[in-house]
Amino acid sequence: MALFEVRGLTKAFGRHVVLSGLDIDIFAGEVITIIGESGSGKSILLKAMMGLLDADAGTIRFDGEEVTGQTEREWTQTRRRIGMLFQESALFDSLNVYDNVSYALQEQTTMTEDEIAQRVEETLALVGLPGIEHMSPSDLSGGMRKRVALARAVAVRPEVVFYDEPAEGLDPINVTRVNRLLLGLQKSLNVTSVVVTHNLKAAFAISDRLALIHDGAVAATGAPEALLESDDPVVREFIGDRMRRVLRAS
Ligand SMILES: Nc1ncnc2c1ncn2[C@@H]1O[C@H](COP(=O)(O)OP(=O)(O)OP(=O)(O)O)[C@@H](O)[C@H]1O
Ligand SMILES: [Mg+2]
Repeated sequence: MALFEVRGLTKAFGRHVVLSGLDIDIFAGEVITIIGESGSGKSILLKAMMGLLDADAGTIRFDGEEVTGQTEREWTQTRRRIGMLFQESALFDSLNVYDNVSYALQEQTTMTEDEIAQRVEETLALVGLPGIEHMSPSDLSGGMRKRVALARAVAVRPEVVFYDEPAEGLDPINVTRVNRLLLGLQKSLNVTSVVVTHNLKAAFAISDRLALIHDGAVAATGAPEALLESDDPVVREFIGDRMRRVLRAS
């Protein structure tokens, strides 16, 4: 059974149809990367799967239960099981790193302050930034901010983590670092990772499976090697000849 089962997901903004009957399965324990052109609806899909956006039609099942149409209160429960690294990765600039990372622990759990402090310490160590609890987000580099945002997303120890462009705007060293971190968390926290990225090299390097969104639906899914060798014209065009050579060589 899939952890997430999305069927017939449809979303339009006015006359602009973004998703038109999208189906996707996400399996427990996998790293799956959603790829597709800018504006193809990748972020919309993640937001619908977290109940942050109402679809016009279709169903989403999470761990065997239909979550479409849940009340806000029920969504709050569901969301505790999902960590999200938003595309914008906004930290609360008025709060220090400790308060940012512990935010959901304070809001959503009955953990004591000592337990929370311990969890924040462990989580900052997991993302390679031990001991920066007292720092202010404005004093951190872009790469550090991303990693603090990641620590905040996983502090509650979610079962699934959504990453929307985890490495956007980072230099190559930090891109590699964030991707390694993602795989490290996948192992150490035993989560399912759903990644959205334009970085095909990273996508092919870290994923068990990829899904290509095109024209509002999933045009292809498969292991990286399978997509790389696919004859499907949509897949071939999206990857492109030059990138195909790069990926084959890497
Ligand atoms: N609240 C909204 N109102 C109107 N249009 C929206 C809204 N949110 C998203 N859209 C449109 O839906 C389409 C899909 O948006 P989405 O953010 O999912 O794209 P994306 O695949 O994540 O793109 P990118 O790779 O650039 O992040 C875009 O054309 C966007 O302009
Ligand atoms: Mg997006």
